[in-house]
Amino acid sequence: MDNFIFSNPTKLLFGKGQIDLLPKEVSRYGKKILLVYGGGSIKRNGIYDQVMEKLAEIDADVFELPGVEPNPRLSTVQKGIEICKREGIDFLLAVGGGSTIDCTKAIAIGAKTDIDVWDIIMKKESASDALPLGTILTLAATGSEMNAGSVITNWEIKEKHGWGSPLVYPKFSILDPTYTFSVPKDQTIYGIVDIMSHVFEHYFHLTSNTPMQDRFCESILQTVIETAPKLLEEPENYEYREVMMLSGTYALNGMVSVGLRGDWATHNLEHAVSAVHDIPHGGGLAILFPNWMKHVLDEENVDRFKQLAIRVFNVDPTGKADKEVALAGIEELRAFWNRIGAPSRLSDYDIGEDSLELMADKAVAVREQYGVFKKLHREDSLAILQASL
Ligand code: NZQ
Ligand code: ZN
Repeated sequence: MDNFIFSNPTKLLFGKGQIDLLPKEVSRYGKKILLVYGGGSIKRNGIYDQVMEKLAEIDADVFELPGVEPNPRLSTVQKGIEICKREGIDFLLAVGGGSTIDCTKAIAIGAKTDIDVWDIIMKKESASDALPLGTILTLAATGSEMNAGSVITNWEIKEKHGWGSPLVYPKFSILDPTYTFSVPKDQTIYGIVDIMSHVFEHYFHLTSNTPMQDRFCESILQTVIETAPKLLEEPENYEYREVMMLSGTYALNGMVSVGLRGDWATHNLEHAVSAVHDIPHGGGLAILFPNWMKHVLDEENVDRFKQLAIRVFNVDPTGKADKEVALAGIEELRAFWNRIGAPSRLSDYDIGEDSLELMADKAVAVREQYGVFKKLHREDSLAILQASL
């Protein structure tokens, strides 16, 4: 293992009815609240009314930023920053999925500085302060509710970048599985793919002696694979929703990846795809991940793929060469994602050959090479995208 320091200060309030604790948690930070949410799902499923009722109990002065887009945009972040500065906001409350939470994290940073927030996202400048924020999660997927990361799209230049700062760990996150009952089937599937993909990004690393981290990862994958089909059959089953919600949080709260550096090449490439085509993050990952695996698999790293195939996808290695076992595992992953209804080709989103070069450019817009398990360059991006058509 590599040396590491692990600290995750986010307080989780998990389970049905935990919204009752909202007034107590928020009142630690002040009365002027900016409520940040997406395109209206929280109004349709009643979560908005519940939150407003709870905030009224502490006489909070509530301002609102609705309309955060899936793949949240810099322009919306800027709107939020302006409200915070104009109104002297004390606390940010994100109610929604990863997009709403990520947008809120960028607002939290931007509200406390005169530096252009895009320069902080691009790591040209660093942040030294942030407004405190809390989250009420409505979709199991990104893990943003318990991590310090955020992904923002600058639509004008068609670039989407991840950034992070310990300053934006949520102070608390309320995770009520009943709040995810209304997530539509396609978004539930994208969430499942995203959760599994976060585990893969940790699993493919070059650090030696990580048996516990490996098994944490494998257990999340097994849990998700076991639960996903049942959840898709019964979207309002509390037990399936709670298992998926916890899996999403643990897949990316830093715990299963202590002491190692994960790969993250597929996420980088997916961000290039959704920056150009504005497709759902999980949909892009479902298309790309098995093709990334096939692209990087070689004699030197075959053992890791073999371990995944045997331990998670129950591939029988008897009489098979290592590479055959590895490839069988990758095929099992593709088959599983197909079975639950995830997309498998760029053409599922009407993306054709004409934009491959642009997406390959975007994948190396910041760094000429990316990925840890295997270093990728522009031509690798192009090959993976080509295989994904
Ligand atoms: O906008 P509303 O109306 O709320 O509808 C949303 C949106 O259309 C809907 N939804 C959410 N909860 C719902 C619901 N609909 C009905 N009932 C509910 N309870 O779902 C749609 C998608 O929401 P979004 O927040 O975009 O999804 P997700 O959580 O998958 O977030 C995706 C974003 O997170 C980034 C992605 O790149 C993408 O921009 N990521 C953030 C990460 C992080 N911060 O750590 C890591 C990830 O790898 C990822 O890159
Ligand atoms: Zn992701």
